[in-house]
Amino acid sequence: MMPVSMVGRAGELAELDRAWSTLAVDGRPGPVVAVLTGAAGVGKSLLVAAALEAFTPRPAVLLSGAARLHSPAPYDWLAAVLSGRGTSRLGLPSDALAWLAQHPTAPRERYAPGTLLRLAVRTVRLLVGAGPAVLVVEDLHALDPASLNLLGELAAAPDLPALLLVASRPAADAVAPDLAARVLSRLCGVRGAVRQHLGPLGPAGVAEVLTQVYAGSPPAPRLVDAVWQRTGGNPYMLTELLAAHAGQGPDALLRHPLPEHLRVPAPRPAVPPDAELTGREVEVLGCLVAGMSNKQAARALGISVRTVTVHVSNLLRKTGSASRTEAALWAVQHRVPARPG
Ligand SMILES: Nc1ncnc2c1ncn2[C@@H]1O[C@H](COP(=O)(O)OP(=O)(O)OP(=O)(O)O)[C@@H](O)[C@H]1O
Ligand SMILES: [Mg+2]
Repeated sequence: MMPVSMVGRAGELAELDRAWSTLAVDGRPGPVVAVLTGAAGVGKSLLVAAALEAFTPRPAVLLSGAARLHSPAPYDWLAAVLSGRGTSRLGLPSDALAWLAQHPTAPRERYAPGTLLRLAVRTVRLLVGAGPAVLVVEDLHALDPASLNLLGELAAAPDLPALLLVASRPAADAVAPDLAARVLSRLCGVRGAVRQHLGPLGPAGVAEVLTQVYAGSPPAPRLVDAVWQRTGGNPYMLTELLAAHAGQGPDALLRHPLPEHLRVPAPRPAVPPDAELTGREVEVLGCLVAGMSNKQAARALGISVRTVTVHVSNLLRKTGSASRTEAALWAVQHRVPARPG
């Protein structure tokens, strides 16, 4: 399957570009901070990559590091940044650099933690130089505590000419939730910080992805809807679903069951964008909340059972629910007024 290009996120991209401009064009003293949060697979890394590609002028320095997902070790972010980079010109003690870069030969425990942290900040400053730089931090939620402390320090480092571009799952999903929450709030507290919480794609976004994959012809609304429901609009789920059915027509997405690993209930958008309900639909929803069958609802509202069925299926679509019970729950959560009388 061809890689899908990013849909939606135009507003987010523009805001990140503006943040970069304040530093790189207007010469505002840094650091400038941008924090992107969102659930697994919602598209944080893709947005970071797209932003880096769009930044003008190009960053003079790009330092990029990610958490090591297995066996986190101190200063993973900096070690990733230093990997493969010549450091002799930095003029820092080589044994400390070896420790920060996680060289296997580094002497152990030579420096107190506070000293190492100061040396780590100094290392980043030297690498950034006159800037303007972008410091990319991927997967903050999975970072080791030393890296998190370093980020906190960098966000507060006076006149650091850098944009700190951070992507993280919500702190609750972090390896160390309390520390991650503290660092995220410290980052977001920096003056002028940009924060973006990415949500799933809506039906229009899903339709755009389907159009890309199935070569141009607009997908049937029924297909868009079913795929949106099945994936909760999560781009990772969506790309996995499409990859699992690559080479087959779009109808395969409806016919076949979901691949095993995707069969977890997809996160649903809290309020689907098209949840505008008509007066009649609100009444029918009230009947669902009351636990009525279609026949009972038809009698209560003085309409035919067939009409109730149509309203119910519209309600399921508009509320992003997979069942009547879920629609009733949605009504309660969204405080839809109960049926009068
Ligand atoms: N807006 C989008 N349009 C099209 N495809 C997208 C979009 N966002 C993400 N994708 C695709 O979905 C997949 C997951 O995206 P990505 O890796 O950026 O998610 P993430 O939020 O960084 O996830 P994680 O929390 O696991 O790091 C990728 O294949 C990516 O190309
Ligand atoms: Mg990512």
